[in-house]
Amino acid sequence: GEPVAPSGAGSGFVVVANRLPVDLEKLPDGTTRWKRSPGGLVTALEPVLRSNKGAWVGWAGVPDVDVEPIIEDGLELYPVPLSSQEVEDYYEGFSNGTLWPLYHDVIVRPVYDRAWWAAYVEVNRRFAEETAKVAAEGATVWVQDYQLQLVPKMLRMLRPDLTIGFFLHIPFPPVELFMQMPWRTEIVEGLLGADLIGFHLPGGAQNFLYLARRLAGQPTSRGTIGVRSKLGVVQVGFRTVRVGAFPISIDSAELDEHSRRRSVRERAAKIRAELGNPKNIMLGVDRLDYTKGIDIRLNALQELLEEGRVDPAETVMVQLATPSRERVQSYIKMRGDIERQVGRINGEFARVGYPVVHYLHRPIPRDELIAFFVAADAMLVTPLRDGMNLVAKEYVACHSDLNGALVLSEFTGAAAELRQSYLCNPHDLDSVKDAIVGALDDDRDTKRRRMRSMRRQVLTHDVDRWARAFLDALSQGNVAGSALLSE
Ligand code: ADP
Ligand code: F6P
Repeated sequence: GEPVAPSGAGSGFVVVANRLPVDLEKLPDGTTRWKRSPGGLVTALEPVLRSNKGAWVGWAGVPDVDVEPIIEDGLELYPVPLSSQEVEDYYEGFSNGTLWPLYHDVIVRPVYDRAWWAAYVEVNRRFAEETAKVAAEGATVWVQDYQLQLVPKMLRMLRPDLTIGFFLHIPFPPVELFMQMPWRTEIVEGLLGADLIGFHLPGGAQNFLYLARRLAGQPTSRGTIGVRSKLGVVQVGFRTVRVGAFPISIDSAELDEHSRRRSVRERAAKIRAELGNPKNIMLGVDRLDYTKGIDIRLNALQELLEEGRVDPAETVMVQLATPSRERVQSYIKMRGDIERQVGRINGEFARVGYPVVHYLHRPIPRDELIAFFVAADAMLVTPLRDGMNLVAKEYVACHSDLNGALVLSEFTGAAAELRQSYLCNPHDLDSVKDAIVGALDDDRDTKRRRMRSMRRQVLTHDVDRWARAFLDALSQGNVAGSALLSE
């Protein structure tokens, strides 16, 4: 990267997220370099920001470094520093030990810690202040995700001239669960600082609307919220805040094109050969996170092998797992559990030189990942809860050949769109096993028909359409009638 030439005028479009799209990496020789940061947020927003020529405010991914603003690969990046104590309390603590499990159906028990909350408030204030410096007069600012829910209100107090949008990339929980949060009113009021608040699904938007009424005491609309339409309305004094459902997506056309390249096809064939040319290759691709249900798909595989419904001589599973949040206790435990499970399946069913489960605990370069998507006969996406799950859409975008089948948990946002996948309930192991067997054994024509229908959805609903729908609604401003409102 090179230093940003200060134009003085500021940026007209600013994305604010916990992480920059790249992480600073400290190499053993003391030098540094930038690498792509993990997660679906970056996958989705990076192409959007490139085409909108904006600035990105976020953390560089390592504690205790103060980096100058840079232009990295054409993007203007403004790093926000975090101390190691703040990484512990704001990021690992409140964001990933409190909010993440609370918003994912309390799969793991959330910890409510006052010191973590204090750090969350403090760091949100820093993000708001940095953004206030970067944004031009009258700019549009788009705040992202659960780590920064207080930023909209804080930023509005600093800069009432801005248009502020907020999008939540993870599920918004049922009212009964959200009510556990000791700082529930502060969070709802923080979000209400935005002009438009976006969720993946209408259900989440509806939950939020109810809480705005109940906790913040604001009048709201009562009608049903639709996908990209029929927004909800909260009246906050003289301001009208709108609430809507905007299911996120991927750069489908780019991935479709990329996956057709000859180099990718050749690499996919080579992967199949390296795996011993088995009849069936099953694939899992996830951050190593307890919400993803990696343990569930391994349990399903183990039982299918034990029952002889899957033949270890002709089936291979590949699990690619990016390390994630490695100092948080629940992640440390889950990693151990999964690695034991992989060892156990191979111990029982592998032959020398032919493991049944191949497990890689590292991020995979993009080209290689796409080749894996192309090579896989069945993709296993089995989260207990997931806001959207972009991996499911990526797999579909990579199958212009119409081969392959998607096993998909009902508890992902993607399940609302990919109705022709092999849907399963991850809490019901038999349902997961049946979905896997269906995905492997159904006849070719059935699978092609299902894939064709899913591709139609993914290719016509890409990330550009998502961003346009959100930003159009944001710029249309206060058009909603207050006739809709009632206390
Ligand atoms: P989340 O945001 O919870 O991580 P998503 O499925 O929405 O989940 O997005 C994950 C993104 O990270 C996808 O773009 C996916 O391709 C990428 N990804 C996940 N696992 C890996 C991996 N092992 N190697 C490389 N990229 C990965
Ligand atoms: O999309 C969910 C998300 O949690 C993002 O907010 C986050 O940046 C990404 O996944 C990866 O998680 P982390 O930033 O904690 O590594």
